[in-house]
Amino acid sequence: MRPGDRAALAEFVAGLSDEAIELRYFDPVSRQRAVDHLVGPSGPGRTSVVLEVLDGPTGRLVGQAEFDRDPVRPTVAEVAFLIADSLHGKGAATLLLWHLADRARAVGVEVLEAVTGSANWPMLGVLYGSGFPCTVAVEGGLVRVRLEITSGPCWSRAVRAERPRDPP
Ligand SMILES: CC(C)(COP(=O)(O)OP(=O)(O)OC[C@H]1O[C@@H](n2cnc3c(N)ncnc32)[C@H](O)[C@@H]1OP(=O)(O)O)[C@@H](O)C(=O)NCCC(=O)NCCS
Repeated sequence: MRPGDRAALAEFVAGLSDEAIELRYFDPVSRQRAVDHLVGPSGPGRTSVVLEVLDGPTGRLVGQAEFDRDPVRPTVAEVAFLIADSLHGKGAATLLLWHLADRARAVGVEVLEAVTGSANWPMLGVLYGSGFPCTVAVEGGLVRVRLEITSGPCWSRAVRAERPRDPP
């Protein structure tokens, strides 16, 4: 993420529902704070990717995902996702997860962990259906999902994502 991406990220965040912000940050944080967090500063172990769709001469930012390596357990990193409301259910988060897993594996990460609300079914669906072996722990009202990414996702999920779908 570069400082020059701030305007595109601010437009993306402005278009999100309050519910999406709350699900991502577990709190109704201000949009300003969400943008500040998404733009940086990046820690040494943080990698952030964005998804853009073609929209006229420029792209429009419709998703962001990141992983942040645990400073104590460098083979483990925490992942988080934020996808434009209008694009939900079309495989965007799944695509970003696979992309992040490739990037994380390349720097020695073996496990991606996600902490999400126990009723956040779309997020849990992405994680459980990612094709990576997973283990789950319930901690209060939160669920911690651990994905083993030492090899790629199993083929069946990849084939499913390739099937024809409605355009966003
Ligand atoms: C959670 C969130 C990231 C999911 O993003 P998404 O892009 O809608 O996720 P996907 O489309 O990859 O997967 C969601 C569902 O769509 C399905 N899907 C995937 N590919 C698909 C395709 N080709 N056609 C139709 N549906 C598809 C998935 O199977 C999943 O359904 P399931 O729950 O039955 O398994 C998104 O809802 C979001 O931004 N929520 C607010 C923030 C948040 O909750 N972040 C998580 C905290 S870390």
